[in-house]
Amino acid sequence: MTGGANLRSFEEAAGRLIVGLDFPEAEQARKLLKELAGIPCYMKVGMQLFYATGPDFIRELKQQGYSVFLDVKMHDIPNTVKGGANSVTRLGVDMFNVHAAGGLDMMRAARAGALAALKADASLPTPRIIAVTQLTSTNQRTLNEEIGIPGNVEDAVVHYASLAREAGLDGVVASPLEVKAIKQRCGQAFLTVTPGIRPVSSAMEDQSRTLTPGEAIQQGTNYIVVGRPITAAAQPREAAETIIQEMMQQ
Ligand code: C5P
Repeated sequence: MTGGANLRSFEEAAGRLIVGLDFPEAEQARKLLKELAGIPCYMKVGMQLFYATGPDFIRELKQQGYSVFLDVKMHDIPNTVKGGANSVTRLGVDMFNVHAAGGLDMMRAARAGALAALKADASLPTPRIIAVTQLTSTNQRTLNEEIGIPGNVEDAVVHYASLAREAGLDGVVASPLEVKAIKQRCGQAFLTVTPGIRPVSSAMEDQSRTLTPGEAIQQGTNYIVVGRPITAAAQPREAAETIIQEMMQQ
């Protein structure tokens, strides 16, 4: 998949929209699914919903035909991450993530865990394994003064992206502002998944490094992640459709 323009159809654009189901309970997520029925977007289950519902809700999404991104951002010793990656691959998710800050061995272990699950059951989808670089809520001050990494955010992100590539992962989560630099270092085929998306009319909330959906696609990102601008909208379907239209127009 190449980044950039040329999203020719609504379906093609929708397939590159990942909706963040950031809800405390399955019932609220089901209500949103009903609203968005028929839009072929990716669904993202993060720690809030996954810790509440466990694997059952993932199976429910898969039964409904959705591609699922399990956003649990694993970060532990390599052996534990290997086991975690094995378990989520056996669940049939299409994408999951680990923190690049866990280092090369940890990222390689994630891959090994997923490959072992695929070897044991050839009917499973091959999940894309994505490394979190720096959270899109992290700004220069947080990076330097709290996390203790010197230099600017983009350099820190590109460094982690190249480590993820070296570990054999499929791509990274990053801000849309960093997509060009990541693709330049890691190649066009290396995927970027970009949260921190804010349609023109919506609030920044706790995100720092944001672009609009159209701008993010124009930067060449592969997937955009959108939570509150859809989940907290008075008319979620209309919000999602507007975002998809904007992705097509950019
Ligand atoms: O509501 P909002 O659009 O800000 O949601 C963004 C989603 O993307 C959230 O589910 C958040 O956990 C996730 N995310 C992020 N930054 C990352 C990785 C994931 O915002 N680096």
